[in-house]
Amino acid sequence: MIPIYPVNSLSATPLQGEVTLSGLTNPPPLSLYIHIPWCVRKCPYCDFNSHESKQNIPEAAYVDALIQDLEQSTPLIWGRKIHSVFFGGGTPSLFSGESIDRILSHVRMLTPLEYGAEITLEANPGTVDVAHFKGYKEAGVNRVSLGIQSFDDRYLKALGRIHDTEQALQAAQLAIDTFERVNLDVMYALPEQSLEDALRDAEIACQLKPAHLSFYHLTLEPNTAFHRTPPSLPDDDTSATMQEEIEKILAQQGYVNYETSAFAQPGMQCKHNLNYWTFGDYLGIGAGAHSKLSFHDKLIRQSRHKHPKRYMEFATQGNAVDQEWRIERDALGFEFMMNTLRLHDGFATDLFQQRTGLPLITIRDSLQAAVQQGLLEHQETRIRPTLKGRRFLNNLLEMFLDE
Ligand SMILES: C[S@@+](CC[C@H](N)C(=O)[O-])C[C@H]1O[C@@H](n2cnc3c(N)ncnc32)[C@H](O)[C@@H]1O
Ligand code: SF4
Repeated sequence: MIPIYPVNSLSATPLQGEVTLSGLTNPPPLSLYIHIPWCVRKCPYCDFNSHESKQNIPEAAYVDALIQDLEQSTPLIWGRKIHSVFFGGGTPSLFSGESIDRILSHVRMLTPLEYGAEITLEANPGTVDVAHFKGYKEAGVNRVSLGIQSFDDRYLKALGRIHDTEQALQAAQLAIDTFERVNLDVMYALPEQSLEDALRDAEIACQLKPAHLSFYHLTLEPNTAFHRTPPSLPDDDTSATMQEEIEKILAQQGYVNYETSAFAQPGMQCKHNLNYWTFGDYLGIGAGAHSKLSFHDKLIRQSRHKHPKRYMEFATQGNAVDQEWRIERDALGFEFMMNTLRLHDGFATDLFQQRTGLPLITIRDSLQAAVQQGLLEHQETRIRPTLKGRRFLNNLLEMFLDE
């Protein structure tokens, strides 16, 4: 269990007797995450920090709060280049191009944003039109991630989505015509879904030829309407077959399955998510956003106030961070593995020390046990999960819990 310290208890210098890191000579690449916490309607399966907006969204005030949050955070990332930006939600496409432009202008003023950095914005097909996409592009967004979920009205209805198939297809085509890099989110193992219907969604998604596809197995998350009143879902065997067959269809169409749920045309992987999965650093601003930041002597995590109203109040008082805690040395191996073993290609052995400051020998016993059980493959300079390891990822990760 990692202790959580109230934010004010963490001083800039290491406290006496606390574990410090050694060997972290260079900080990892840094990404910026910006959370927009509102949606037109809350979907019954979703546990993201998203709030149904019954009245007008305080868009301008929220942008002010984000800018103040970023200004307050810059001392933590002084001089470090930002390699990618991701507007996630919620539904960032509820915001106008002007608001996104204001935010990105401040990002450029306050940080060294790398030239050509990937800048992604999540969009809901029920909230976008030509003007929105044009505005985002002019603001500097160069990648759009669309929440399609299904191309079948029956399932869109069961998922409580605000759009129908026609709108999903139109939004996808519009996004693909406007941006070179587009991701479509699709879910499978939906209420009452047949294998044929799941595969039809995969085929339609491929026909649109987006640069990137994310295929998620629908999960019943605590604190959602689906968890309280579960719908009838396909059994485990059917959903396992769906996953295998979807993977086959996407592979035939040239998509490389580089992470559990992520598929990309060659060279089109999501750089922002790859930074998470290689245990990179990220500053997260906005309601409930999380950060992970490395320093020469410690790794910290932060979370911001979760409720939008509270977040705006605190951010404008210069206090957006709700909690801040150190990642303890004992937890580093597990945290590193939890991210990197999602990648089909695993990690280069050097990366372990580069990101954690610890030598690989620290996790030698678990590595050996996982290799013996056929869950991991350890070649000279690379460690990657086997097919069995990918299918039983939780069991594999548990082996690194006690290191
Ligand atoms: C923040 S949402 C994306 C953008 C936008 N809010 C939308 O829904 O159109 C991120 C994605 O996570 C996936 N997702 C959300 N809840 C899920 C769940 N319970 N099981 C599987 N995937 C889920 C959906 O595919 C969704 O598009
Ligand atoms: S899935 Fe997307 S649109 Fe639906 S509630 Fe979650 S964040 Fe909002």
